[in-house]
Amino acid sequence: MRKSWYEKKIENLSKLSGYKKPVKYSNVIKLDSNENYAVDSSFFQDVMNQIQEKMDVREYPLGGVDRLIVALSNYIKMPKEMIGVGNGSDQIIDLLLGNLASKETRILTSDPTFGFFEERCKLYAIPTKKIQFNEEMNLRLEDFITNSKKADILYLDSPNNPTGFQFQRKQLEKLIQSFNGLVIIDEAYVEFAGYSIANMTKKMNNLIVLRTLSKSFGLAGLRIGYFLANKKTIDAFSRVIQYPYPLNTIAIEAGILALKRSKYFVDVADFVKKERTRIIEKLREMKVFKVFDSEANFVLFAADGASQRIHKALIEQGIVIKNLGKVGKHDGCLRVTVGTQEMNSRFLTAIRDLLN
Ligand SMILES: Cc1ncc(COP(=O)(O)O)c(C=O)c1O
Repeated sequence: MRKSWYEKKIENLSKLSGYKKPVKYSNVIKLDSNENYAVDSSFFQDVMNQIQEKMDVREYPLGGVDRLIVALSNYIKMPKEMIGVGNGSDQIIDLLLGNLASKETRILTSDPTFGFFEERCKLYAIPTKKIQFNEEMNLRLEDFITNSKKADILYLDSPNNPTGFQFQRKQLEKLIQSFNGLVIIDEAYVEFAGYSIANMTKKMNNLIVLRTLSKSFGLAGLRIGYFLANKKTIDAFSRVIQYPYPLNTIAIEAGILALKRSKYFVDVADFVKKERTRIIEKLREMKVFKVFDSEANFVLFAADGASQRIHKALIEQGIVIKNLGKVGKHDGCLRVTVGTQEMNSRFLTAIRDLLN
């Protein structure tokens, strides 16, 4: 019997690998997913206790997103009309690609880029041109400018996951200004970096800046993403593209309370940056790895032929980091998230002992 269009479609979809989620281990030091354990868990216990009185989960969260956007607006000091929200920035990426791009849209990005973004482009069969990171795990601005003429969308995660690289501010500004199509700058890790270009959305109508509460606010489990763009884009997105109730009541209320205490998260980000420096220095002292600078809450290092052994041996000791294989021009790359001081020390001691 001839296959129906539907069977063929499912067959084609089944050929895709999809976004590979990390393996779940119990009772381990989890340094593989760029989460933020430096945020004290008692902070959220407190937040959860407080929101219980405010919620009635029998109701749809009518008006909830609007209140969250006001809290975001106070935090990021941007007009509320320039802010949209989503169920994690993952969902915003999905909705933007699904509604703004097609098989005819050409996307320019880096290699590597954020894995979920790449998978979504494959799902929608959107052709991508990728510029590879060089030996030092840097990108060259000129490569992007040369290729930008042939692209409709430029997507960059700034800082980049998994390298931790961020262009110099002037360079990124120049690239954005020279690009005619839509520019999507994903600032998921920006609170750990030196600068944000969020303000440029006030002047540039073709710029979207993605942000999230998953990283610096340590709220990955609540799935709160947001983005900044001109008012027309936000209106079309929020009124037409986005679901009526994209975030659940618990996420909305906890997000609002966390944003009200945003000063605490500035201290957390400062702590993470200090610990990041310590991890980079200690790994470099070991003299066997190529350790890359990072502007995010993780550190990438190349362990070449030893990477599988190190990754496995760490798991056996209850420490999970990310095994990435080849990244840019380097084989055997591993990525470790910055955790609490104790988690970081346990990782550093374990890896030092493995080398002896
Ligand atoms: C560059 C980048 N963008 C977006 C995300 C996803 O963020 P969210 O938790 O808001 O979906 C991640 C998560 O790892 C990321 O690395």
